[in-house]
Amino acid sequence: MRRDDERERWKPLLPAAPIALASGARGAAAAEFAWGVASSAFQAEGGDVPNDWVAAARAGRVPANPGNGFWERAERDFALVAGLGLRHYRLSVEWSRVEPARGRFDERAIDRYRAICDAACAAGLVPWLNLFHFTHPLWFAERGGFLEPRNHPDFLRYVERLGRALAPHVRHFHVSNESMVYVVAGYLIGENPPFLREPSAAFAMTRHVLALHADAYRILKALEPQPTVATIEVYLDPRPADPEQPGQRAAAERFDAWYHGALLEALATGWVRVPQRDPEEIPHLRGALDLYGFNFYCSTSFGANGPGTASELPDPPRDALGRAVNPAGLETGLLRVARALPGVPLLVTENGCPTADESFRCRYVAAHLAALERARRQGADVRGYFHWTAVDNYEWRHGFAPAGFGLIGFDPTTGERAVKASGRWLAEVIRDGVLDPARIP
Ligand code: FCB
Repeated sequence: MRRDDERERWKPLLPAAPIALASGARGAAAAEFAWGVASSAFQAEGGDVPNDWVAAARAGRVPANPGNGFWERAERDFALVAGLGLRHYRLSVEWSRVEPARGRFDERAIDRYRAICDAACAAGLVPWLNLFHFTHPLWFAERGGFLEPRNHPDFLRYVERLGRALAPHVRHFHVSNESMVYVVAGYLIGENPPFLREPSAAFAMTRHVLALHADAYRILKALEPQPTVATIEVYLDPRPADPEQPGQRAAAERFDAWYHGALLEALATGWVRVPQRDPEEIPHLRGALDLYGFNFYCSTSFGANGPGTASELPDPPRDALGRAVNPAGLETGLLRVARALPGVPLLVTENGCPTADESFRCRYVAAHLAALERARRQGADVRGYFHWTAVDNYEWRHGFAPAGFGLIGFDPTTGERAVKASGRWLAEVIRDGVLDPARIP
């Protein structure tokens, strides 16, 4: 692809004139807009932990994960990230590290997480701690995971234990990352452990993850000092590949009604309405969130050959995984969530792309920051932007690819980090509070 052609492709997605970002405003708005990065424990730490992803890798079902060295190098990574002007770091706890056997907590692992949170603070970064990001301890998976309600108290015991150990060190918690994607990938399309393709299990799991969120919210809010507790869900923006096709329209609408509709209704009202199950009220789910964590990567299309990605452009740029870029999905998604959950502040808790091309990454981020700004100006109360991710890491079933998501790369032999051009570019945007097309590569 010639460079000029590629630029033309991006043109409609990038601002034509400089845009002042919320963070560039003087006074309260500037102080409140949170620039951060997001990561997860297993994706960054990797290693031989007793969880279901390591077991699946041994069985050859997913790639192995040696990690990027975060467990040992967190302190140095924080210094690099803070040096870019970022002030927030979303990370998670690997449950199987801290509770390798049922009911047996490893105090040394908990101490390490405590030290990691303290190191983030010392570097000038606010840690946001998520307690569940896709991986289960093997003992929990072998007992049937969350699909078995008798196992739910195990998770809540872990939440309480970690909450008590870390609340004095962390002001912001998330219960779980993208619980709906977790359900889709593990229980509906069978891509992630436990590799099930059972709609009835997926619908039961929807109820379970929502009930567990409500229970965990209650536990975390009872801690001293009281933390903020936020959800995290990825916006998939389902659309028919061809709007003229009634079957595709219906498929997109059906998926949307469950995946986004039921979730937002449940968070707003406490009523869980999913297919194949009687409506159920979980009263303490109503309003059980202090902030909505909104992740966005791309829009989903429902076409003749199943799901793909969609864009409003006829010939959109595509990332290294072939996904069409469509920042409009971030804008309309933020506005939709804002309408569904009035009064709940929003935080973009993940956005980024897999690419080995640094111009691509800068443009991708610029286009999504512009979309965020449009949503904000239309009334969505967006409090910050967390880039996925800081240091390249394990991308689940895609493993480690040269086309990482990080603002920082690393040498797999020495572990040495190198800030990428996109990291330096984002640091300038943060410093100036302006998105200037003349400075977008
Ligand atoms: C999100 C996941 C995260 C990461 C990014 C690229 O859906 O939450 O773990 O893999 O995608």
